[in-house]
Amino acid sequence: MSNGDVSQGRRRFLIGATSVVGGVGVVGAAVPFVASWNPSAKAEAAGAPVTVNVSKLEPGQQMTVKWRGKPVWVIRRTEEMNENILELNDKVKDPLSKEADQPAYIEGELRAIKDEYAVLVGICTHLGCSPQFRPEVAPADLGEDWLGGFYCACHGSRYDLAGRVYPNMPAPSNLQVPPYRYDDENTLTVGLDPEGAA
Ligand code: FES
Repeated sequence: MSNGDVSQGRRRFLIGATSVVGGVGVVGAAVPFVASWNPSAKAEAAGAPVTVNVSKLEPGQQMTVKWRGKPVWVIRRTEEMNENILELNDKVKDPLSKEADQPAYIEGELRAIKDEYAVLVGICTHLGCSPQFRPEVAPADLGEDWLGGFYCACHGSRYDLAGRVYPNMPAPSNLQVPPYRYDDENTLTVGLDPEGAA
């Protein structure tokens, strides 16, 4: 279950509660309820961590959660995808992400705590559009050299499946990796560092 499902349920409950209160003619009573709900919405916008269950994510799939109002992608990468990333080491602009916005515990070409799961902020480092997930190899519109990655349709920036930007793109740097940690094998929390890493 993603965080999105949880907040949808909460919204349905809110609508239900408001109509019951309205029905008995005590409209004012809805105000304290809304007021008591607002702080958690504010906390979320200010950066409350988001827990993600990745157990239903199939190899090769992407899911999106919202953290600090931004889309955060989790991509379950196959071995082939990871091999393709390594093949691009001398083709991308900053293969080891020396200039990238990422936590200190994210190292190496694959840019992940576990190679199988990429966690990336889904916002182009050019002007903030959200790039498309294009995992296919050599699709007609992206060309023979495309080994899977993210394509920003706004001004054409290209990234590989580790979020590393190609040279001579409008985007100046690799996609951001947010702070995150694993709580167990299938659960990760975006917005918290691993124990002892802070
Ligand atoms: S916003 Fe992505 S290329 Fe300009």
